[in-house]
Amino acid sequence: MRILMVCLGNICRSPSAEGILRQKLKQADLANKVMVDSAGIAPWHQGEAPDKRALQVANKRGYDLTRLIARQIRPEDFAQFDLILAMDKANLKALKSMPQQTAQVALLLHYALADSDEVADPYYGDIKGFEVMFDQLETACDAIITQLRKIL
Ligand code: 4NP
Repeated sequence: MRILMVCLGNICRSPSAEGILRQKLKQADLANKVMVDSAGIAPWHQGEAPDKRALQVANKRGYDLTRLIARQIRPEDFAQFDLILAMDKANLKALKSMPQQTAQVALLLHYALADSDEVADPYYGDIKGFEVMFDQLETACDAIITQLRKIL
Protein backbone atom coordinates (compact mmCIF):
# COMPACT_ATOMS: atom_id res chain seq x y z
CA MET A 1 0.00 0.00 0.00
CA ARG A 2 1.25 3.49 -0.85
CA ILE A 3 0.13 6.64 1.00
CA LEU A 4 0.94 10.22 -0.04
CA MET A 5 0.50 13.08 2.46
CA VAL A 6 -0.21 16.44 0.80
CA CYS A 7 -0.25 20.05 2.04
CA LEU A 8 0.41 23.40 0.39
CA GLY A 9 4.18 23.86 0.71
CA ASN A 10 5.43 20.38 1.74
CA ILE A 11 7.56 21.94 4.47
CA CYS A 12 5.27 21.91 7.54
CA ARG A 13 2.23 19.59 7.69
CA SER A 14 2.78 16.88 5.08
CA PRO A 15 6.47 16.12 5.83
CA SER A 16 5.56 15.97 9.54
CA ALA A 17 2.70 13.58 8.72
CA GLU A 18 5.09 11.49 6.61
CA GLY A 19 7.68 11.27 9.40
CA ILE A 20 5.10 10.47 12.08
CA LEU A 21 3.36 7.78 10.01
CA ARG A 22 6.67 6.22 8.94
CA GLN A 23 7.77 5.89 12.57
CA LYS A 24 4.41 4.49 13.68
CA LEU A 25 4.49 1.97 10.82
CA LYS A 26 7.90 0.78 12.03
CA GLN A 27 6.64 0.44 15.59
CA ALA A 28 3.61 -1.50 14.32
CA ASP A 29 5.85 -3.78 12.23
CA LEU A 30 4.06 -2.60 9.06
CA ALA A 31 6.97 -0.69 7.50
CA ASN A 32 7.54 -3.37 4.88
CA LYS A 33 3.88 -3.28 3.79
CA VAL A 34 3.24 0.46 3.51
CA MET A 35 5.22 3.11 1.64
CA VAL A 36 4.71 6.73 2.72
CA ASP A 37 5.75 9.94 0.98
CA SER A 38 4.65 13.59 0.93
CA ALA A 39 4.26 16.41 -1.58
CA GLY A 40 3.03 19.98 -1.88
CA ILE A 41 0.40 21.56 -4.09
CA ALA A 42 2.64 24.60 -4.66
CA PRO A 43 6.17 24.55 -6.11
CA TRP A 44 7.52 27.35 -3.88
CA HIS A 45 9.63 25.27 -1.48
CA GLN A 46 10.79 22.47 -3.79
CA GLY A 47 14.20 21.16 -2.79
CA GLU A 48 14.00 22.60 0.73
CA ALA A 49 14.20 20.81 4.08
CA PRO A 50 11.17 20.94 6.40
CA ASP A 51 10.50 24.18 8.29
CA LYS A 52 12.86 24.60 11.29
CA ARG A 53 9.92 24.71 13.69
CA ALA A 54 8.62 21.36 12.36
CA LEU A 55 12.13 19.92 12.75
CA GLN A 56 12.32 21.25 16.31
CA VAL A 57 9.00 19.74 17.44
CA ALA A 58 9.71 16.50 15.54
CA ASN A 59 13.08 16.17 17.24
CA LYS A 60 11.54 16.78 20.65
CA ARG A 61 8.91 14.08 20.02
CA GLY A 62 11.34 11.54 18.57
CA TYR A 63 10.60 11.77 14.81
CA ASP A 64 13.30 12.13 12.18
CA LEU A 65 12.41 14.56 9.37
CA THR A 66 16.01 15.46 8.59
CA ARG A 67 16.25 13.60 5.28
CA LEU A 68 12.99 14.91 3.80
CA ILE A 69 13.13 17.26 0.82
CA ALA A 70 10.09 19.20 -0.42
CA ARG A 71 8.64 18.40 -3.82
CA GLN A 72 5.53 19.36 -5.76
CA ILE A 73 2.81 16.80 -6.53
CA ARG A 74 3.11 15.27 -10.03
CA PRO A 75 0.54 13.64 -12.31
CA GLU A 76 2.19 10.20 -11.82
CA ASP A 77 1.40 10.37 -8.09
CA PHE A 78 -2.25 9.69 -8.88
CA ALA A 79 -1.28 6.36 -10.45
CA GLN A 80 1.54 5.45 -8.07
CA PHE A 81 -0.25 6.00 -4.74
CA ASP A 82 -3.30 4.15 -3.44
CA LEU A 83 -4.29 6.86 -1.02
CA ILE A 84 -3.62 10.61 -1.20
CA LEU A 85 -4.42 12.44 2.05
CA ALA A 86 -4.89 16.22 2.03
CA MET A 87 -4.31 18.36 5.11
CA ASP A 88 -7.05 20.92 4.38
CA LYS A 89 -10.01 21.55 2.13
CA ALA A 90 -8.10 23.84 -0.22
CA ASN A 91 -5.49 21.08 -0.75
CA LEU A 92 -8.32 18.57 -1.34
CA LYS A 93 -10.00 20.86 -3.87
CA ALA A 94 -6.71 21.37 -5.72
CA LEU A 95 -6.09 17.59 -5.80
CA LYS A 96 -9.59 16.93 -7.11
CA SER A 97 -9.09 19.43 -9.90
CA MET A 98 -6.06 17.50 -11.20
CA PRO A 99 -6.40 14.72 -13.75
CA GLN A 100 -6.88 11.73 -11.52
CA GLN A 101 -6.13 8.12 -12.09
CA THR A 102 -6.52 5.35 -9.54
CA ALA A 103 -5.70 6.96 -6.19
CA GLN A 104 -8.32 7.51 -3.53
CA VAL A 105 -8.17 11.17 -2.45
CA ALA A 106 -9.46 12.28 0.97
CA LEU A 107 -8.98 14.73 3.83
CA LEU A 108 -6.54 13.19 6.33
CA LEU A 109 -8.72 13.85 9.38
CA HIS A 110 -11.84 12.63 7.62
CA TYR A 111 -10.17 9.43 6.47
CA ALA A 112 -8.46 8.73 9.80
CA LEU A 113 -10.96 9.96 12.36
CA ALA A 114 -14.25 10.49 10.48
CA ASP A 115 -13.76 14.16 11.38
CA SER A 116 -14.01 16.53 8.48
CA ASP A 117 -11.85 19.19 10.15
CA GLU A 118 -8.56 20.40 8.77
CA VAL A 119 -4.95 20.34 9.95
CA ALA A 120 -4.50 24.10 10.32
CA ASP A 121 -1.64 25.67 8.41
CA PRO A 122 0.94 26.65 11.08
CA TYR A 123 3.33 28.46 8.70
CA TYR A 124 2.43 32.05 9.63
CA GLY A 125 2.01 31.35 13.35
CA ASP A 126 4.37 30.49 16.18
CA ILE A 127 5.77 27.25 17.59
CA LYS A 128 2.54 26.55 19.51
CA GLY A 129 0.78 25.98 16.19
CA PHE A 130 3.34 23.32 15.36
CA GLU A 131 2.69 21.55 18.68
CA VAL A 132 -1.06 21.54 17.91
CA MET A 133 -0.29 20.26 14.41
CA PHE A 134 1.81 17.40 15.80
CA ASP A 135 -0.96 16.51 18.29
CA GLN A 136 -3.47 16.32 15.41
CA LEU A 137 -1.13 14.36 13.15
CA GLU A 138 -0.17 11.86 15.86
CA THR A 139 -3.84 11.16 16.63
CA ALA A 140 -4.63 10.75 12.94
CA CYS A 141 -1.64 8.48 12.29
CA ASP A 142 -2.52 6.28 15.28
CA ALA A 143 -6.00 5.86 13.77
CA ILE A 144 -4.53 5.01 10.36
CA ILE A 145 -2.34 2.33 11.97
CA THR A 146 -5.41 0.82 13.66
CA GLN A 147 -7.19 0.71 10.28
CA LEU A 148 -4.17 -0.72 8.46
CA ARG A 149 -3.75 -3.49 11.02
CA LYS A 150 -7.24 -4.71 10.06
CA ILE A 151 -6.58 -4.85 6.32
CA LEU A 152 -2.89 -5.78 6.00
P1 4NP B 1 2.55 23.59 4.66
O1 4NP B 1 2.72 25.09 5.19
O2 4NP B 1 1.55 23.66 3.54
O3 4NP B 1 2.02 22.86 5.85
O4 4NP B 1 3.92 23.14 4.22
C1 4NP B 1 3.02 26.17 4.36
C2 4NP B 1 4.33 26.38 3.98
C3 4NP B 1 4.64 27.47 3.19
C4 4NP B 1 3.64 28.37 2.82
C5 4NP B 1 2.33 28.13 3.20
C6 4NP B 1 2.04 27.03 3.97
N1 4NP B 1 3.98 29.50 2.04
O5 4NP B 1 3.08 30.34 1.82
O6 4NP B 1 5.13 29.63 1.60
